[in-house]
Amino acid sequence: MKLVVVCGARPNFMKIAPIMWAIQKRADMSAVLVHTGQHYDRKMSELFFEELRIPAPDVNLGVGSGSHAAQTADVMKKIEPILIEERPDATLVVGDVNSTVACALTSVKLGIPVAHVEAGLRSGDRSMPEEINRIVTDAISEWLFVSERSGLENLRREGIPDHRVHFVGNTMIDTLLSCRDQSDRSTILAELAVAPKKYAVLTLHRPSNVDDAEALGRLLVALRRIQEEVPVIFPVHPRTRAKLAEREDAKLPGLRLIDPLGYLDFMKLVSDAALVLTDSGGIQEETTVLGVPCLTLRDNTERPATVSEGTNVLVGRDPDRIFDAAMDSLRGPRPAGRVPELWDGGAAARVVEVVSKHKGTANKGVTSIVGRSEMQEFQQN
Ligand code: UD1
Repeated sequence: MKLVVVCGARPNFMKIAPIMWAIQKRADMSAVLVHTGQHYDRKMSELFFEELRIPAPDVNLGVGSGSHAAQTADVMKKIEPILIEERPDATLVVGDVNSTVACALTSVKLGIPVAHVEAGLRSGDRSMPEEINRIVTDAISEWLFVSERSGLENLRREGIPDHRVHFVGNTMIDTLLSCRDQSDRSTILAELAVAPKKYAVLTLHRPSNVDDAEALGRLLVALRRIQEEVPVIFPVHPRTRAKLAEREDAKLPGLRLIDPLGYLDFMKLVSDAALVLTDSGGIQEETTVLGVPCLTLRDNTERPATVSEGTNVLVGRDPDRIFDAAMDSLRGPRPAGRVPELWDGGAAARVVEVVSKHKGTANKGVTSIVGRSEMQEFQQN
């Protein structure tokens, strides 16, 4: 069986890495890896391929940045001839970025079924570009691989037939667990001269937080107060850097702006942090597994298991609320979260197993909740 596996932006790389490792182990499957080039800076892309031992992409579409329409259209135009030439049995896409929806749409229109990894997540907020990408990709995918139980309910509510839906766990957590020893050896704390549990980590890149000058101003009011209590290490996304450069209120002595970090350094920095403040999706999940308090600078999350089971708290953008929550985290006991179901390091193997079994019978599957016992059965067979 031949798959085209698609990645494009930074959060995709940790989701495809274990899928590529799982495919490499199988004699009955091969993958053509397509990088759309949505992210292209070395620190946003190449570094992750090296650290996560992802094979070099077979094709790079080189689309780069642009408006949503331009970027999505460019990916579609450039992936189409690749899919026609490669004629894969299926296309596998991950996450919710523009590259995800663009490749899924192009693929189904060529009659090539799509597997969507991280299906079913919903924030309920259609002003987020990712929410539109999620809804569209799920509606047209043949296999929907769900990472947390809320995804099963969301897809059922949207009328997606059960036989397309597979609860497999979280491939990004596969990567986290398999890179733990390596990231523990990172020297990033010494390089930044910070001590374990004596600093906070911040990431910010959502358009609703950084492109809206007023919203960014409110976050900076909270950050001004927090950095007086604890140093805040801020690896800055390229989208955000340009916005901060224009502002005097972003120049704060305890807010340390640094370049984007590689995966291993970033995971080390997060795992030893007293607190993480973020508007990222993936970091809400990683902090839940690492048991690190996470304050999400948004009013909603598409990953509710991180709140109901993990260490995540939604704090929105109100400066007082953010500051109070940060102080509670710094002064109070560590949250006693638990790791959501099937976030156990085996998600990618489940994805690959399901796709391989369904070859040629894409419409005839049954809902599968694949757990450890089923995996053992697969392995024995
Ligand atoms: C994209 C995803 C978002 C994801 C985020 C992770 C969409 C709609 N958004 O947002 O879901 O959470 O990636 O990072 O797909 N830039 C560079 N170098 C790069 C990449 C981007 O300088 O390697 C700059 C460019 O100025 C670009 C801007 O960042 O215009 C935004 O990049 P883009 O890929 O459009 O969106 P992100 O904000 O990164």
